Amino acid sequence: MPATRPPDGKSEGKTMEIVLAESLGFCMGVKRAVDMAYRAIEKSDGRPVVTLGPLIHNSQEIERLQKDGISVTDEDAIPENSTVIIRAHGVTPQAFEALKSRGLKIMDGTCPYVHYSQRKALELYEAGYTVVIAGDRNHPEIRGILGYINDEAYAVKTVEEAQALANLDRVGTIAQTTISPKKYQAIIDVLRAKSRELKVCETICDATEENQKAIRELSAEVEMLYVIGGSHSANSNKLVETAREKCPRATLIETAGEINAEDLRGVNRVGVSAGASTPDWMIQSVVERLREISVRLANPR
Ligand code: F3S
Repeated sequence: MPATRPPDGKSEGKTMEIVLAESLGFCMGVKRAVDMAYRAIEKSDGRPVVTLGPLIHNSQEIERLQKDGISVTDEDAIPENSTVIIRAHGVTPQAFEALKSRGLKIMDGTCPYVHYSQRKALELYEAGYTVVIAGDRNHPEIRGILGYINDEAYAVKTVEEAQALANLDRVGTIAQTTISPKKYQAIIDVLRAKSRELKVCETICDATEENQKAIRELSAEVEMLYVIGGSHSANSNKLVETAREKCPRATLIETAGEINAEDLRGVNRVGVSAGASTPDWMIQSVVERLREISVRLANPR
């Protein structure tokens, strides 16, 4: 997105420049699942629309979805006759079949990148490789993938965990879509030394990397930078961490209301980025708040 200039051309003092990261906010997979949920409610004819677990890690967007009639539930509490949205992380094939057998209407919001990982894991498994997943076994995406291969895989979150594995024969690797390429490479290097044959599948998604790349560039050009995202969102926290390498004042905020105008006194350029679960309307409200502050600071009464 392009840099936005202050709207008030008539301001007396110098206003602050607000610059958006070239890539920020919703990734394709989350956007697709959220759009799907809104489409489902339009076509529901009054039937309940539920998502299996939160569609995204963003409480404000979850609230908004709830207001529009889309509620979060788990497998045991799905009302009859519901339309069920599968979230971008995907589910196990067993869970999918169980929903189908209950006669529920299913809309599959599984991200295409996650579908690709599921397929790759199955291909490796069927070809007789020992599957090693670089990622967190308890993450919903990985739990879903494990369902495709009878839970028969190692999952390693760190290089140390990879080092702790015994020597293996034919190893096939996939990565959690959101793991850093650097960490995946380090885990691959360890596995290469431990296995007779190693087949590496590239399953990291570019979306988070694009936001990372954009914030790296932006952080070198601004004095202050706000990352909009949930405090528990690993993806948003990672953006802040990256931004702080060049812009030590980079700050994570959940909403526009958390911006303290005093922190911006004397700032000429402020940057804005957002985690992959942050909807556009929240980014817009932060930009609006920064514009107001900018005009106020430039025109003290
Ligand atoms: Fe899909 Fe990548 Fe988003 S895997 S859900 S596009 S972070």
